[in-house]
Amino acid sequence: MEKLKWWQKTIVYQVYPKSFLDTTGSGTGDIRGITKKLDYLKTLGVGAIWLTPVYPSPQVDNGYDISDYTAIDPNFGSMEDMEELIAEAKERNIRIVMDLVFNHTSDQHAWFQASKASRENDKADWYIWRDAKPDGSAPTNWRSIFGGSAWTWCEARQQYYLHTFAKEQPDLNWENPDVRQALYDAANFWLGKGVGGFRIDAIVYIKKPAAFVDGKPDAEDGTVSIHSMIADTPGILDYLHEFREKVFEGHDIFTVAEANGVQPSELPDWVGAHGVFSMLFEFSHMNLPFPEVEEWCHAKPWKLPALKQALTASQKATATNGWYPIFFENHDQPRCVDKFFPEGGDPALRAKAMATVLLTLRGTPFIYEGQELGFQNVQWPCIEDYNDISSKGQYDLARGEGYSDKQAMGFVHAFSRDNARTPMQWRDERQAGFTTGTPWLPVHEDYATCCVEAEAMKERSVLTYYRHLAKFREDSEISDILEQGTYEELLPDDAQIFAFVRRLGGRATLTLVNFSNRRANYDPALIEGARPVTGTYPEDEPGVLRPLESVIYVKEAQA
Ligand code: NOJ
Repeated sequence: MEKLKWWQKTIVYQVYPKSFLDTTGSGTGDIRGITKKLDYLKTLGVGAIWLTPVYPSPQVDNGYDISDYTAIDPNFGSMEDMEELIAEAKERNIRIVMDLVFNHTSDQHAWFQASKASRENDKADWYIWRDAKPDGSAPTNWRSIFGGSAWTWCEARQQYYLHTFAKEQPDLNWENPDVRQALYDAANFWLGKGVGGFRIDAIVYIKKPAAFVDGKPDAEDGTVSIHSMIADTPGILDYLHEFREKVFEGHDIFTVAEANGVQPSELPDWVGAHGVFSMLFEFSHMNLPFPEVEEWCHAKPWKLPALKQALTASQKATATNGWYPIFFENHDQPRCVDKFFPEGGDPALRAKAMATVLLTLRGTPFIYEGQELGFQNVQWPCIEDYNDISSKGQYDLARGEGYSDKQAMGFVHAFSRDNARTPMQWRDERQAGFTTGTPWLPVHEDYATCCVEAEAMKERSVLTYYRHLAKFREDSEISDILEQGTYEELLPDDAQIFAFVRRLGGRATLTLVNFSNRRANYDPALIEGARPVTGTYPEDEPGVLRPLESVIYVKEAQA
C-alpha cells in the first residue's frame, strides 16, 4: 500500500462558524472564536478544520449564498482574523479547509448584478437565462431544492434565471470558460493564503442538461424536483477534471466534494487514480431515513442491515482506489443520535455507538461540531421558530399537499437543518458560554450537562469517549490497523449488531456495536483469541452486547 497522506491519517472537524463561539456579543459566532478554541480541537486529534462559508453573504442560506469569493464577511471578522486563524492552526498542525460554493452565487454578487442588468453585457451569460414559455410561465416545471419554482422572472431582461436552491442563489453557467476561470482564480486565491484543502458544495448540479424540458410531476402542484432533472448530468466530470488540473494538482491539500445522489458504485469515477477529488461525500447511508416525496411527513422505516450495506458498499468501493470520508453528521443533517436509533435508549450510549463506528471504519473521520458532546435534535413548536430556509420550503410544500400543521411540523422536527445549527455548548452558564448577547438561534435546553466543561470532567462522558478513541486512532497499539487495515463486514443480516473487522499484517481489530436498546447475542467464537481494548460498559460479557453497547477487540497475529 502507498504511504498515507497527512489527511488520511487525521480527523477532520467541521465548524459551523455562526454557531461556534461569539467573541463580540453579536449573537453570531466569529473567526476569532475558532482561533480561541484550537487547543480544544487538538484534544480531539483534529488535523483539519472544515469551515462552512465565512465569505460576504446576505445569509439567506446561512453563507451558502456568497456575494464575494475572496473576502470575509464582517460579521465573522476580517481577512487578518482569517490569516491569524490559518497561522495559529498551522502552529498546532491543523489545516484550515474552505468551503467552495461554485454551483451558484448570491443574487447580490457583482457578477449577477451585472448579468441581470441586460442581455448585452460581459456577464450576460454567466448565469442560466431562458425565455418564458409562450404563455409567459417558467421555462420548465422544475421545483427548487428549497421548494417553489426553480425559475425566477427578471424584468430587466424579460427572462427567467435558474436556481437549484433559493431564488437568491442563481446558478452559474459552467459552460462559459470565463466563469470557470473566475472560479478557479477564487480557489487559487485561498491556496495562496495557505489553506489545507477544500470542501466543494453541491457539485452534482454544475452541469445542466443540453435541453431544458418538463419532467413528470412528483408533487400535487405539477412540479418535479430539480434534483431528478439535473443531478450528475453526463459530461460533468470533464469540467471537474479541468478544475483539478487548474487548481488542486500539485498542492499538498485534500478535496472533498458533496455529491448527493452519487452511488458508492460510481465512486471510482470521482475519487482515486482516475477521479477528481481526494474524497467524496456520497449520502447513501445518510439518506436511509429520509422520506420519499410521496411519503412527506413520515420518516421512512429502515433497518440496520440497510445502513451496514450502504457503508460496506462505500468501504469496498474505496478499498484500493480513492479514500472514504466517514461522516454521520453535518450542518444539513439531523443529529445522528436521533437519526440512527429507531428504538431510542440512553442518548450518551447512542452517541458513543456512532463514535465507535465513525472512528474505527476505514477512511478519514469527520466530526461535526457538537457531535463529540452527543448533541440532540431540537423540537420548536411552530415553523416561525425555525430559521432554516429549507425547512420553511418543505413545510409549505407539505401543507400544500394537504398535510396538517402537526404532520408538517413532525417532518420539520425530524429533518430540519436547524437541528444541527444550535449554538455550541461550552459551559453551564447563560447561553452556554456561546455568546454574551442573544444567540441567532436558541441554545439547546440540555446545555447544563451537555457542554464541554461538564463532559470534560466526567470520566464516562461522550466527549471523554471521543477523546479516548481519537487517541486510539492517533497513537496506540492499534493505530496502524485503524489507519491502514482492510475492512471486512461481519453479520450483514443481523438486525441489532453492526460488526466489522479491520486487518493488517495478521493483526486485526473487531468492532461490535449494538444499535438496539435490547440485549443482543452473538456467537462467542467471533471474539475467540481476541482481547477487548475499549468499550462503553465497564466489563465486557462475551457473546452478549448490552443495550447500545460498543466494544472494540484486538486479535494479535498467530505465532
Ligand atoms: C449544500 C450545503 O451543505 C447546504 O447547506 C446549502 O444549503 C446547499 N448546498 C446550497 O449551497
